[in-house]
Amino acid sequence: MANAPSNLPSDAFVFFGATGDLAYKKIFPALQAMIRRDGMDIPIIGVAHAGWSVEQLRERARDSIVKHDTLDPDAFAKLSANLGYIDGDYADAATFAALKQALGGAQRPIHYLAIPPSLFATVVQGLDKAGCATGARVIVEKPFGRDLASAHALNATLHSVFPEEAIFRIDHYLGKEAVQNLLYFRFANTFLEPIWNRHYVDSVQITMAENFGVQGRGSFYEEVGTIRDVVQNHLLQVVALLAMDAPTTRDVDALRAEKLRLFRAMRPLDPREVVRGQFDGYRDEPGVARDSKVETFVALRLHIDTWRWAGVPFYIRAGKNLPITATEVFVDLKRPPVGVFDDIGARDSNYFRFRLSPEVSICAGTRVKKVGEDMVGERVELVARRQLSREKSPYERLLGDAIHGEASLFTRDDSVEAAWRVVEPMVSGVPGVHIEPPSPYASGQWGPAAAAKLVAAREGWHDPLAEQSAPC
Ligand code: BG6
Repeated sequence: MANAPSNLPSDAFVFFGATGDLAYKKIFPALQAMIRRDGMDIPIIGVAHAGWSVEQLRERARDSIVKHDTLDPDAFAKLSANLGYIDGDYADAATFAALKQALGGAQRPIHYLAIPPSLFATVVQGLDKAGCATGARVIVEKPFGRDLASAHALNATLHSVFPEEAIFRIDHYLGKEAVQNLLYFRFANTFLEPIWNRHYVDSVQITMAENFGVQGRGSFYEEVGTIRDVVQNHLLQVVALLAMDAPTTRDVDALRAEKLRLFRAMRPLDPREVVRGQFDGYRDEPGVARDSKVETFVALRLHIDTWRWAGVPFYIRAGKNLPITATEVFVDLKRPPVGVFDDIGARDSNYFRFRLSPEVSICAGTRVKKVGEDMVGERVELVARRQLSREKSPYERLLGDAIHGEASLFTRDDSVEAAWRVVEPMVSGVPGVHIEPPSPYASGQWGPAAAAKLVAAREGWHDPLAEQSAPC
């Protein structure tokens, strides 16, 4: 096994999959941003098997930044000057020998595996044999496996070469400003704690809606479906931040320990409490099977068996081709125990609403008396909203953290496996339990009608709406 990395920042950035989609959409813009903001000045080496030259990669970087960000001439010139490229087969030792040479005197490279997990073993072994893993860090992308067994095997593959403290598993949701704010808001304020439990919280809903389809990624989506794509990772991470107990310190291990306890208290999904849907037209997408049973929508109920949350349903809903693109958490509080005023309807309880994307806001739903003689009120939402345009993108934040060895926004081996255990009944099946095929839904609808039945005992789904006011 390679030596553990020191606490010093990485001194070279290597990315496998340099000609691929992720590099194009996220990595090049993040690299330019790190150079612009922090003056990052280390060798940046792309690796791929595409028959390209370094000039072609530079052109690709330029295109990527023009398309997804704004080209900054100085920062881009520095990126171009530091950019190298190795073209070669990942199974060929010569590729790694060339990488070793390109790394020159770098002592602490970081290797980003922006490639399918099926190639992880070949690449980490290649790195190890060529001596490129010593003192190095490694970043791996989601999806981290397809089920509990494959995630466990991937962890074993990585651990055969890298110690756990050198491994950075990316979940870009954890790099979002609004997701970090969930943690901050919960534990920097005292007023929430007395009510943040089964005595005052009636239910929690998390909706991640997208008003677009699979955007040409049909063959990728066929391999994953909504549960693997966004529930096992992004949305369970959001649940963990909402429901975990306070860590005793900001220390990365304290935070990870509390999250792990929470993941372990989540009950594995009961297929009878899961509704899957598939948008009409999905089967006509390139790369999608004509009889595909892959879900593009899911709604489910999650149970958390702790003293804090026993009996409080956590509902999760996510899907493609829904009416809006928005991710929102809705924490519904219980109604007043005695009906002093009789104008309080079923949907008038207090609530907290956290808008995580695309806008960022925290809102508290309250009842306030209307002006006049009658003791009747109206719903008033207290809103704190932020404009985020100058903030770091999740990839800039996460890659920067990994380069500095700062691990708190990355998922540890035990947590990633604990999260797979929760969704395991839906991805691997349960003996004797029939998993219904996904029900069709029309694009622009909130999934199949059956999703409403899940929340029938509550007040229905709280659909995220377009945010009304301008950011302040
Ligand atoms: C990705 C999923 O992880 O997250 C996509 O693979 C999804 O299917 C995306 O669209 C959403 O992320 P964001 O940051 O655009 O909300």
